[in-house]
Amino acid sequence: MSRFWSRVVGTLTPYVPGEQPKIANLIKLNTNENPYPPSHKVLAAIQAELGADAARLRLYPDPNADLLKAAVARLHGVTSQQVFVGNGSDEVLAHVFMALLKHEAPILFPDITYSFYPVYCGLYGVDYVTVPLADDFSIDPADYMQANGGIIFPNPNAPTGRLLGLAAIERILKANPDSVVVVDEAYVDFGGETAISLVDRHDNLLVVHTLSKSRSLAGLRVGFAVGHPALIEALERVKNSFNSYPLDRLAIAGAVAALDDAEHFERTRQAVIATRDTLTAELQSLGFDVLPSAANFIFARHPQRDAAQLAQALRERSIIVRHFRLPRIDQFLRITVGTDAECKALTQALRGILG
Ligand SMILES: Cc1ncc(COP(=O)(O)O)c(C=O)c1O
Repeated sequence: MSRFWSRVVGTLTPYVPGEQPKIANLIKLNTNENPYPPSHKVLAAIQAELGADAARLRLYPDPNADLLKAAVARLHGVTSQQVFVGNGSDEVLAHVFMALLKHEAPILFPDITYSFYPVYCGLYGVDYVTVPLADDFSIDPADYMQANGGIIFPNPNAPTGRLLGLAAIERILKANPDSVVVVDEAYVDFGGETAISLVDRHDNLLVVHTLSKSRSLAGLRVGFAVGHPALIEALERVKNSFNSYPLDRLAIAGAVAALDDAEHFERTRQAVIATRDTLTAELQSLGFDVLPSAANFIFARHPQRDAAQLAQALRERSIIVRHFRLPRIDQFLRITVGTDAECKALTQALRGILG
């Protein structure tokens, strides 16, 4: 606390990202990054944008990132007017809370979900009500048929990895024609079907994507949203009241190249999916209960072992996974799917720890 702080700063409970330790030879399975490098076309595009003398860095980037919006539009069969881009999907989501979810009635999201949502609510003064997931950690669309100022959930959900089908999402959309329904598809490429196909039928749907996971670009900070042009205009109004240039030149160039490289995308996501299935079977053979995952991470608990102690024992063996000290999930570990070798090292370490 300081007398220089504004009133709101003292009330904030900021988000705590998974750690990025500066330790060599660590097996890092804690922040759902992709274990494979991005397409080599990303590097080529960034180098081309830089040029021999980086002279273009003198100039501001395109404030509208038109080339990137066009790449998203091409990929998903929509128009550029239906696309918003931002500095990581976290920034896109922040603008969504300000532009589309701040109303009189409280918004709804699951009790177990991406822990940034309540943080944005605190920052922007958005009231919320959490909706308990079912006992099997699935989202029940019937729970979202109550009065609300908006709805947001990740699909697949984080940190559970559980997927909701498009028919269930459409039920939620139809039951809430006067609320914006935000589907945060950060992990959808690892096993789900995108709801972008529904945006032309539902003017209350906004789908949010990131290039941090399936495009291996967490370090470049690029995310986007697709929805009705009126929703996009609201986001542009907030963005242009905040930062005109959220995406730098290198990020725009690299992101376009990543979205255009279908072959690299397909190969790496299939590799992650295959490793996830092997890791699931291995963990089950070690006695873990594993939730069905459509994401690039696994959410698992061991009936006889305390999750915090397991996480600590792994850490002592230079493997880090994520443990949340939160109600209902404090006996779970969230394990990012790494390379085959990393996942093998993990299961070997667990075998040693479990005895
Ligand atoms: C559900 C969900 N949404 C959004 C994000 C943010 O992704 P980024 O800001 O890297 O695009 C994450 C990151 O882990 C996430 O888990």
